[in-house]
Amino acid sequence: MTISDTACRHTPLCPPADASDHGEARVVCCRPEQGWSRLCNGSFRFDDCGELLPDGSAVPAHSRDLCGRPGFVNWSHLPSVARVMDHLTGGSDHYQADRDLAAALLEAAPWLPHEWAANRRHGTRAVRAIASRYGIRRFLDLGCGLPFSRKGDDEQAPLHTYEAAASVHGDACVVYVDNDPMVAGHARMVLAEQHPFTAAVEADARQFDGLVATPEVQALLAPGRPVAVLAHDLLSWVSDRAARDLVTRLARRLPAGSVLSVTHAGLDLAPEAMEALADRYAAAGIDFFPRSRQGIQSLLALWELESPGLVPTGQWHPAPHIPGPTGNGFSYAAIAYRPEVS
Ligand SMILES: C[S@@+](CC[C@H](N)C(=O)[O-])C[C@H]1O[C@@H](n2cnc3c(N)ncnc32)[C@H](O)[C@@H]1O
Repeated sequence: MTISDTACRHTPLCPPADASDHGEARVVCCRPEQGWSRLCNGSFRFDDCGELLPDGSAVPAHSRDLCGRPGFVNWSHLPSVARVMDHLTGGSDHYQADRDLAAALLEAAPWLPHEWAANRRHGTRAVRAIASRYGIRRFLDLGCGLPFSRKGDDEQAPLHTYEAAASVHGDACVVYVDNDPMVAGHARMVLAEQHPFTAAVEADARQFDGLVATPEVQALLAPGRPVAVLAHDLLSWVSDRAARDLVTRLARRLPAGSVLSVTHAGLDLAPEAMEALADRYAAAGIDFFPRSRQGIQSLLALWELESPGLVPTGQWHPAPHIPGPTGNGFSYAAIAYRPEVS
């Protein structure tokens, strides 16, 4: 019986380092970096004996997750970024653990719901701008998040990526990707099934080969057909190394003429609040990597930034009818063009 990751810093969630000494279980710390991408961020499992809940208590191994897989932590006990976002933007797909984390986050950053709503509206503006400016019809929405609903006839409400793209090109197609199985399931049912030109995939953006090998992404990546990759509030959840690897491999793999649209939490736009958010996420087992403008720019070094460059999301080109955030907001946004890379 061994512990494969004693260095894990998610102490509230991880079992004590000497757990195996007591013969309780073989513990595999389920860090997403180590390939356990089917689980939500920061979760882990007990092999053989049972599962550990956030409060440190164990439950029998015959517990199953929502898809019936045995031996995995029940999602509802651990918060996920997508569900916290859903809760803070008025959705209904969340559990108590998500609401508890949301409350802690709000203490650090009361502007978070507005920021996330503004990020969604930016997504609509960016997709329409990409579709009309570059004529792109193929979209890969990485870290798509849970589908949201619109209330009433608000013409300024954000659109899902397919709706925004199809409002410019009726034959647009979108592959939604998320590594949270609940998000992928909802995306499959709510987004993909309604439109013939959409698909949803459960995949980890950090495992590039696996992502690109999925039939849906393969179908999107036809030679000579440029693709718009959306990484809207995705890289903020990915380590420096994995984020650099992803954007570099995208630059090398995408057809010429492709673009990358990024939004990213801006460390230097609210340093204290971002640090406090990172601490609260970490206490819940979720890694959060806000970055300075310079840090984000360095990630995108292989890409050519389109005007106006990497700017606070509120300063990014507004598109007709869809307002941007008031003020700068707390994230950066950019659209980058795929360079000719060998
Ligand atoms: C804050 S939400 C952003 C949702 C949406 N893109 C938006 O801008 O409204 C971040 C999403 O990224 C997903 N995510 C985080 N890390 C990921 C990874 N390595 N691969 C795929 N999805 C990931 C999360 O599950 C979550 O749904």
